[in-house]
Amino acid sequence: MSTPFQKSVLVFGATGKQGSAAIDALLAGANKDNLPLNILAVTRDRTSRGSQALAQKSNVSIIEGDLANVESIFDQATADGRPVWGVFGVQVNSPDEEKQGKSLVTVSAARGVQHFVYASGDRGGPERSEADPTFVKNFAAKFSIEKHLQKLAATSRQDMTYTILRPVTFFENMTDDIHGKGFARMWEQMGSRKPLQLISTIDIGFFAAQAFLHPDEHRNMAITLVGDELTQPQAEVIFKELVGSSMPMVPCTVGSAVKFFKKDTVGDMFRWFENNGYGGDVVACRKIYPEMMDYRTWLENCSPFIQSRASR
Ligand SMILES: NC(=O)c1ccc[n+]([C@@H]2O[C@H](COP(=O)([O-])OP(=O)(O)OC[C@H]3O[C@@H](n4cnc5c(N)ncnc54)[C@H](OP(=O)(O)O)[C@@H]3O)[C@@H](O)[C@H]2O)c1
Repeated sequence: MSTPFQKSVLVFGATGKQGSAAIDALLAGANKDNLPLNILAVTRDRTSRGSQALAQKSNVSIIEGDLANVESIFDQATADGRPVWGVFGVQVNSPDEEKQGKSLVTVSAARGVQHFVYASGDRGGPERSEADPTFVKNFAAKFSIEKHLQKLAATSRQDMTYTILRPVTFFENMTDDIHGKGFARMWEQMGSRKPLQLISTIDIGFFAAQAFLHPDEHRNMAITLVGDELTQPQAEVIFKELVGSSMPMVPCTVGSAVKFFKKDTVGDMFRWFENNGYGGDVVACRKIYPEMMDYRTWLENCSPFIQSRASR
């Protein structure tokens, strides 16, 4: 009897938030459906704590490489003669984001990848995201990468398919360190007029896994992912109720200074949140995935605030 084809999925950003969530959800899904799956987790450093934790998981192997040289990553991934069936692509915000994202798409299409899942970002709902790169640099980079992916998928020899995930702002920005306190202040500075749409990266992982586990149902589509929408004052009420104190934040002047000195990145992004804004549909997302976390659920179960309170 021949053994079933074991699909290899190459996961970028594997030690990061979305990549690791995608791996956990993929392993859980493959296990549940009894699907043979081989996960190739990409990291720049196989000795890091995150990489070593990944290496302990069954059906996960580590590939060391940099998005600056995607060919070398594919060489390693296919060294045993097995092709890469799927790719989970994510890049960090940097001046190289667009170049790295496009290069990953180009090499994936040329190397015969069958299904590409791209962790992009929402730009105002399905229609506006297709048409408007926006004035926010990292949003515009994602727009260009998406267009490149759509074009190359349509012209690839193997008829490569894709799923574009367009998440909104991550709950995970709310850490108890200086970055999280800065985020909380800039959110507070948006006032009570316009809510911000938010999602947990754990839930992004669920959608990424579904795209690989059921590629035909997610063929050549883009989906905005959102778990909740609320203003900081609304979030503050929930935070106080669950944590017992106010949401920690940097002084007002620091929040304003960050937006001023990092105008091209953080400043433009908050300006876009205030004047434009995401266009996800919370109810529609929860219909697809009823366990999708809202702010209260995330704060209670996944945030550092409740966990650190429990460990005190
Ligand atoms: N924060 C938000 O609210 C939000 C919302 C929507 C979209 N996004 C987008 O999400 C993306 C970031 O995703 P994330 O938060 O999941 O990432 P993350 O947690 O910051 O992790 C990114 C991972 O990428 C790897 N990496 C970094 N540079 C690399 C390179 N040159 N070559 C290969 N691997 C590299 C790192 O792994 P190693 O160190 O192990 O190599 C790191 O663990 C950004 O594009 C951002 O715009 C963010």
